[in-house]
Amino acid sequence: MERPYIICHMVTSLDGKVTGNFLGKNSGLIGDYYRIHSEYGADGFLCGRVTMESSFPQPSATPSVYEGPPIERTDYVAEKAAFYAVAIDPQGKLWWGDHAISDSDEGYDGAHIVEVLTHKVSNDFLAHLRNKGISYLFGGKSELNLYLVAQKLKRLFDMEMLLLEGGGIVNGSFFQENLIDEISLVVVPEAECSEMAVPLFKTGKYHSDSSELASFRLQESKRLQDDGLWLIYKKR
Ligand SMILES: NC(=O)c1ccc[n+]([C@@H]2O[C@H](COP(=O)([O-])OP(=O)(O)OC[C@H]3O[C@@H](n4cnc5c(N)ncnc54)[C@H](OP(=O)(O)O)[C@@H]3O)[C@@H](O)[C@H]2O)c1
Repeated sequence: MERPYIICHMVTSLDGKVTGNFLGKNSGLIGDYYRIHSEYGADGFLCGRVTMESSFPQPSATPSVYEGPPIERTDYVAEKAAFYAVAIDPQGKLWWGDHAISDSDEGYDGAHIVEVLTHKVSNDFLAHLRNKGISYLFGGKSELNLYLVAQKLKRLFDMEMLLLEGGGIVNGSFFQENLIDEISLVVVPEAECSEMAVPLFKTGKYHSDSSELASFRLQESKRLQDDGLWLIYKKR
């Protein structure tokens, strides 16, 4: 394959939501989610800008100003790492304070950050990433081509297996491009009725040409603690 094998790994409510109060009600199943994340032994995880911002604190200091010549819009590999944190950040909003994730969970801690950008990002932002030793790649001029992004993750960073870990918008756009090979759901036995709650796949925000969407078959189901369920679906 020209791209990594992509597994969408998420915690959901009974009604397929990925945000809401149900997440706070069962810490045991959240622990199972992190355990499974590590057990996959993937080369990295990928999240949308909103999830990265809410999961990993960003520095509050004002962004630096770059006064040099324009920086070429070419991909930048700061380092090859054992595990990567890939951020879909087309406009360059995540002003990371370091080149790696700092997290209490060892399945995320130390992951080398790869920013996925469009040409629209500022020179200030690119200079900041280089200064911090953060890798970046371009997925398009004004819009992202996710197939190209996936290919570059394999070609530039040797990624064979990637965990797609939300939120709903980024999952939905990978789904629309038929780029999901496997779905791994940790289901919490609670319904999340809020209209504001984000679904597993939120589609429509980003255009897709795919006329036929993939269907999936159940590969495995396992009962977890506290009446939770782990479901693994593979693309047909
Ligand atoms: N239950 C779980 O397992 C789980 C896991 C992860 C996250 N979550 C939750 O999900 C929530 C966030 O989900 P969300 O759907 O609102 O946001 P998201 O998917 O995390 O991020 C959306 C943003 O990412 C960028 N983006 C994503 N796909 C893109 C594409 N194809 N082309 C261009 N840009 C793209 C855009 O950034 P810009 O707006 O900067 O253009 C977009 O607004 C959080 O509350 C988080 O806690 C839950």
